[in-house]
Amino acid sequence: MGRDGHPKAGRSSNGAATPPVATTPHPAYADTRDAKTAAAKAAAAADGGGRNDTTIPSIELLGRGDDTSVHAEAGAWEGPAAGSLIGNTYRVVGPLGQGGMGVVVLALDERLERDVAIKLIRPAYTRSQTARERFLIEARAMARVRHENVVEIYAFGELDEAPYFVMEYVPGTNVANWLDDAILEDRLPSVDEALGFLDQICRGVTAIHSSGTVHGDLKPSNLLIGPASRIAIADMGLSRLFDPTGQPGEHPMAGTPAYMAPEFARTDLPSELIQRGDIYALGVIAFEMLTGHPPFDIESTADMLLVHSGARAPLPSQLRPELTTAFDNALLKALSFDPVQRTRTPDAFRKALLEARESITAGHNNALRIVVADDDSDFLELASEALAYGFPGAQIELVADGEAALAACDREPASLAVIDLNMPGLNGVELTAALRANYSLPIVVVTASGGAPDWHLLSALGADGFLVKPIDPFALVALARKAIDSKKRRGTAAKKAR
Ligand SMILES: Nc1ncnc2c1ncn2[C@@H]1O[C@H](COP(=O)(O)OP(=O)(O)O)[C@@H](O)[C@H]1O
Ligand SMILES: [Mg+2]
Repeated sequence: MGRDGHPKAGRSSNGAATPPVATTPHPAYADTRDAKTAAAKAAAAADGGGRNDTTIPSIELLGRGDDTSVHAEAGAWEGPAAGSLIGNTYRVVGPLGQGGMGVVVLALDERLERDVAIKLIRPAYTRSQTARERFLIEARAMARVRHENVVEIYAFGELDEAPYFVMEYVPGTNVANWLDDAILEDRLPSVDEALGFLDQICRGVTAIHSSGTVHGDLKPSNLLIGPASRIAIADMGLSRLFDPTGQPGEHPMAGTPAYMAPEFARTDLPSELIQRGDIYALGVIAFEMLTGHPPFDIESTADMLLVHSGARAPLPSQLRPELTTAFDNALLKALSFDPVQRTRTPDAFRKALLEARESITAGHNNALRIVVADDDSDFLELASEALAYGFPGAQIELVADGEAALAACDREPASLAVIDLNMPGLNGVELTAALRANYSLPIVVVTASGGAPDWHLLSALGADGFLVKPIDPFALVALARKAIDSKKRRGTAAKKAR
């Protein structure tokens, strides 16, 4: 039994899928990024939850023309030992994660004094010319993209004749672990939290497509989550260049069954449709993030072929009534089995999700007025963008100090105040007290430093929320929603009591 009693929503823990192209077992998905989530994941896997999202390599990598024994040798190698030096520059700290063909380690660039992540090809594969070429293709694909939501590559090198490449280190977790954590705690991530990640994922995929590349293996474990909830897309190991004007070509059947588009089995796919495979994967990812369930029950290539010959995804709005039918349309269009009918671009999908989000609150925000007070103009800009996204249609007034905030609230009633603790003149504490003396509006206080003592004082004065800088925009939106919501409910209760 999988998530929320959904039969087989989770996947088997041992990757026991029998892909038609693989003749030897492939290593199960393994991740050592975070001991806590790894343990939780193991527990989830043990009772049938967790996710088997192991990439199935293409037939070439399984040894057509190459040394066919490589797969049997791929074992528990975790990369060069801690303390060893790679390329005279990178001091290995320890393993970060591993997949079928590669291993990723954390290292310190001793010259530039920064952490890096290094992906190395498993020794079993170094003799395979195809695997070495694949590795170079992966590195070059990363090098063509420059985007905040795509992992950045720094360098390529060879260690004992084995290729490796050096990337930025993204500390944190990934979307697979994030989803598993939520499911283990028996809750769904909030719609806004999920949409905040999906927005970044789509932007990253847009950048990858603009660089002429198809990612080819988009799935939750390849979407890293770094500090301040930043998404960084990793693992271009199955990427390929496409030429929209080119001839239909052979597309090696490789990927992860649950995220693979049906047309991957076709060899006559027109070049202009190749990118749509990534859209299908985005559709599956978005479906899982928003409903907590995968759209289809696919554990193996055999399941996949069965599903693709006629299954229908359940309606997201039925799995989670909070989602409107606007989400049904956006998600099911991205999941179209026919690539011609599918959402065309990752940016179109991003916009469809945004529009669907607006349908949830349509009409509600026009009466909202939010006052944001801070002497830091960068914060004002960030907060106003986040609030405009979170409360489409709301009126947002930005002011630079406490006096101006009071004046703004006097001039016209506000539904929420977001204020900085440390401002010249009237500071956050004084402003909170002054606002509370006259109004019942919710107040969220933001501070560069601070902790329990500030929070106790501010809540005693009547503040409703507290955030520490640098703030995560979606955390701000979530807290603001919560503050407005509970104030509204309390207001209704007070009226009833009268
Ligand atoms: N730049 C990075 N920073 C931090 N962790 C990373 C980085 N790249 C990869 N990882 C970790 O290593 C795992 C495997 O990396 P990935 O590139 O997906 O390899 P594979 O092709 O073997 O699946 C990821 O799921 C992630 O946990
Ligand atoms: Mg991977």
